Amino acid sequence: MEIANSIILLLLISAGIGGAAQNASGRAHEVHVGVILDLGSLVGKIAITSISLALEDFYSAHQNYSTKLVLHIRDSMSDDVRAAAEALDLLENYRVETIIGPEKSSQAIFISDLGTKSHVPIISFTVTSPTISPSSLPYFVRATLNDSAQVSCIASTIKAYGWRKAVPIYEDTEYGRGIIPYLVDVLQEDNVHVPYRSVIPLSATSEQISIELYKLMTMQTRVYIVHMSSALASTLFMKAKELGMMEKGYVWIITDGVTNLIDSLHPSVVESMNGALGIQFYVPKSTKLNNFTVRWNMRYQIDNPTDPPSKLSIFGLWSYDTIWALAQAAEKVGLANATFQKPISKQKSTDLETLETSSNGPELLKEILHSTFIGLSGRFDLSDRQLAVSTFKVINVIGRGWRDIGFWTAQNGLVRKLNQSQSTRIHSSLLPDLNPVIWPGESIDIPRGFEVPANGKKLRVGVRSSGYQQFIKVEKDQITGATKATGLSVDVFEEAVKILPYAVPYEYVLFGSPEDTSSGSYDDFVYQVHLKVYDIVIGDITIRYNRTFYADFTVPYTESGIAMVVPVKDTVNKNTWIFLKPLTPGMWLGSIVFFIYTGVVVLSLEFLGNNKNVRGPIPRQLGIMIFFSLFEEKEIVERFLSRIVMIVWLCFLLVVTSSYTANLTSMLTVQQLQPTVNHIQELLKSGEIVGYHRGSYVKGLLEELGFESSKIKPYDTPDDFHNALSRGSSNGGIAALMHEVPYIKLFLANHCKGYTMVGPIYKAAGFGYALAKGNPLLGDISQAMLNVTGGDTMIQIEKKWMEYQNDCQNVGPVTGSSSLTFANFRGLFILTGAASTSSLFIALIIYAYKKQHRSTNMKNDNKQVGENRTDEENNEPQEGNQGVVTEECVQFRDGSEQVCNRNPHTSTAACNGSAANEITKS
Ligand SMILES: *[C@@H]1O[C@H](CO)[C@@H](O)[C@H](O)[C@H]1NC(C)=O
Ligand SMILES: *[C@@H]1O[C@H](CO)[C@@H](O)[C@H](O)[C@H]1NC(C)=O
Ligand SMILES: *[C@@H]1O[C@H](CO)[C@@H](O)[C@H](O)[C@H]1NC(C)=O
Ligand SMILES: *[C@@H]1O[C@H](CO)[C@@H](O)[C@H](O)[C@H]1NC(C)=O
Ligand SMILES: *[C@@H]1O[C@H](CO)[C@@H](O)[C@H](O)[C@H]1NC(C)=O
Ligand SMILES: *[C@@H]1O[C@H](CO)[C@@H](O)[C@H](O)[C@H]1NC(C)=O
Ligand SMILES: *[C@@H]1O[C@H](CO)[C@@H](O)[C@H](O)[C@H]1NC(C)=O
Repeated sequence: MEIANSIILLLLISAGIGGAAQNASGRAHEVHVGVILDLGSLVGKIAITSISLALEDFYSAHQNYSTKLVLHIRDSMSDDVRAAAEALDLLENYRVETIIGPEKSSQAIFISDLGTKSHVPIISFTVTSPTISPSSLPYFVRATLNDSAQVSCIASTIKAYGWRKAVPIYEDTEYGRGIIPYLVDVLQEDNVHVPYRSVIPLSATSEQISIELYKLMTMQTRVYIVHMSSALASTLFMKAKELGMMEKGYVWIITDGVTNLIDSLHPSVVESMNGALGIQFYVPKSTKLNNFTVRWNMRYQIDNPTDPPSKLSIFGLWSYDTIWALAQAAEKVGLANATFQKPISKQKSTDLETLETSSNGPELLKEILHSTFIGLSGRFDLSDRQLAVSTFKVINVIGRGWRDIGFWTAQNGLVRKLNQSQSTRIHSSLLPDLNPVIWPGESIDIPRGFEVPANGKKLRVGVRSSGYQQFIKVEKDQITGATKATGLSVDVFEEAVKILPYAVPYEYVLFGSPEDTSSGSYDDFVYQVHLKVYDIVIGDITIRYNRTFYADFTVPYTESGIAMVVPVKDTVNKNTWIFLKPLTPGMWLGSIVFFIYTGVVVLSLEFLGNNKNVRGPIPRQLGIMIFFSLFEEKEIVERFLSRIVMIVWLCFLLVVTSSYTANLTSMLTVQQLQPTVNHIQELLKSGEIVGYHRGSYVKGLLEELGFESSKIKPYDTPDDFHNALSRGSSNGGIAALMHEVPYIKLFLANHCKGYTMVGPIYKAAGFGYALAKGNPLLGDISQAMLNVTGGDTMIQIEKKWMEYQNDCQNVGPVTGSSSLTFANFRGLFILTGAASTSSLFIALIIYAYKKQHRSTNMKNDNKQVGENRTDEENNEPQEGNQGVVTEECVQFRDGSEQVCNRNPHTSTAACNGSAANEITKS
């Protein structure tokens, strides 16, 4: 019925177009052009109306052109063979210079080959499959985009909403398959995983579609990319709605093949698509377009009187622009002069060998590729043999229509408004800066893009018991047979999985037997992920270089490194000279030097000040000097300067002695525990025996270090380590244990007393989980683990399993004793040194001055009267103690002043004695 309809239509149109061309141009030369379309399809009908309008518009705008296009319209009836036969007929019997069409990618393969052979340009505005490449088919021109252009837009959309997995659903045709490699590539670039591809044959019944949809429902992923013809998509969405797949939580993204036609789809189909996102080619608005749309709608009604009204789509615009480009090119080449000939025979020949080549082909192709203009669809430029990527719109299907969500351009990516620069975009992990979407099920919450299906595939997590049950302990439930795992490694894993942005159901699978705790087979254990026995293995697995050849590791969740456990010893009691330790030799020396210096200074000061106490034999003077330095003795030290020196010196002594005391105290208490061995080299030199955990790779390291195999001993359990360490190397035990830091911490938590950790000696990466190479989960798990280990959760987990005792102080390396150095007290030394030296200096100046003054006085006295000589000398201003003494005398003895004056050289004792007598009298 439909076919018959369209044939009648075809005849009408052919007659109309051909007639118009002939009548309008009496003298014009005809250029024969073949048009091959599926006239029964929506795209075909839309295109035919556009093409006839295009011819009318073009030649009414260019009335004096010497060429006229004469169209030969053929219906391929959605059949590849028929399309090929029509093409051959057009080429052989009508000598067409160009073929517009075909509509389908599958048809295009053969026809564009024919075009290449006969040098006839094939221009298609619907063939989008990237597998048909203009670069390998020189006469094929794509007046549209190839499908790989929109994949970036799809990927940007998926990334904007943060979905991590997507399932393409596509028809099993050239068109459907063509996009897939490009789509998968670009999704992979954005770290979006494609866990499954759903292929639907073009001939699929609705039952087959239902079965496929049920299959998709059982999977986790809820993001679907639909790439198929509008007819199949209509069936698919109707079915999906029926099965409840257009409900909350689902995400549907429709490629432009369907979305470009969405206005022409049946309203019930559009309603079934509600909530879906679509990619659409963006056509800039123009008055020319509005005018055309009005005329097109009227013409479509006339052309298709029995059809429901349809809307103009981008295919109509591209076909319109194609005709303009072609007509212009034909005029430029002036084809009319050339080879056109009436068909020689009506008899159809299908012999490909007789296919003649068109002499105008190359020139016509060149002109078509060079014609660039602003058409109805925007800039129409075929210079790349296909349209350049411009702008896509992302739409949201709502009700019976749709609205814009955002725009995509190659430069700016996905933005809310055109002309918006990328810099204003919010970071992709936050909400995308796009118009709000009403998702399937009338939901406004952004779907997570995954669901945990009841019967979905679970992640197989390989587990095995460790010798250290705090890390991982595996048990088999006697009744259900289920594997249960507990421990720090398990907790970290479970916490990390909780944080993942999507649900990951998992189950533990036991490696070996629950009792097997030997550490020898960890390499094998990790190798199982390579063999795909497990998806991930967890436990106290050291991240090692030679394991990364067959597995990928997550980030570590423990501290890392290899260190030594050694017994600690009491160093204090054995050391007779501990009292010297608080100060460094330099400090001792400095103190002694300054001690002597200060003594000498004070002694000199007193000496210069005529203190009788300091006179006498050398030994006595030395004694006095020591005395000066240690005690502030007013009785002996008489001069004011000496007292200043003494005070500064005593300050120094006070600080040094208190520091000494404090340091000594701490050495006697805190520093009691010293590791017996400070460095691995000491063990190597002294030939002591070192232990390691049996099966651990530490053995290899020890051998590398130069330990003979007789000097290294394997042990199995922490208790064995403890026994061996406590016996010591000489009694058949070991002097030190080399182990990984996480284990050492565990060991020290339980055997806190008597051991300490020295090192780490080697760097090691710590414990992590291993996944098969390239597993997309790796990045997410690592990210989640960083969140767990960096937060409070890790502290809680460690508390739970490690049972650190708080009174265990010696966990961690012991630092060396710190004696007080000369540098610590440099300031004090400078102070006391400066005080002594400057005092000495001042005293010397005074002494010199006094001496000179006295000698001048003596000269004066010799000239003057000799009796008063002693008095005058006595009345001189005097410095130091003597002056003070005189003052005292004056103070205390009101009447007997003269006695003092008369006897200036009376000893202090005598003077003081008289004063004392005076005080007691009064
Ligand atoms: C073409 O011209 C003929 C007369 O030459 C006329 O009868 C016919 O109606 C014209 N057709 C159109 C479509 O104008
Ligand atoms: C047609 O006419 C326009 C002016 O109306 C002129 O510019 C153009 O060159 C003419 N073209 C031909 C092919 O004569
Ligand atoms: C498809 O289009 C893109 C963008 O214009 C282009 O880079 C690519 O080469 C095209 N692929 C094919 C097969 O034509
Ligand atoms: C469309 O444009 C043509 C000329 O450009 C004008 O004559 C016609 O009236 C316009 N039609 C509409 C519906 O605007
Ligand atoms: C077409 O033919 C005319 C004469 O027949 C000639 O003058 C003109 O140059 C030719 N044009 C082309 C493009 O060959
Ligand atoms: C990795 O290296 C260690 C020694 O460094 C060795 O014991 C172990 O067998 C190696 N593992 C593999 C898988 O090569
Ligand atoms: C873990 O993630 C949460 C949520 O994103 C965040 O608030 C928290 O700060 C993260 N913790 C760490 C240690 O990064």
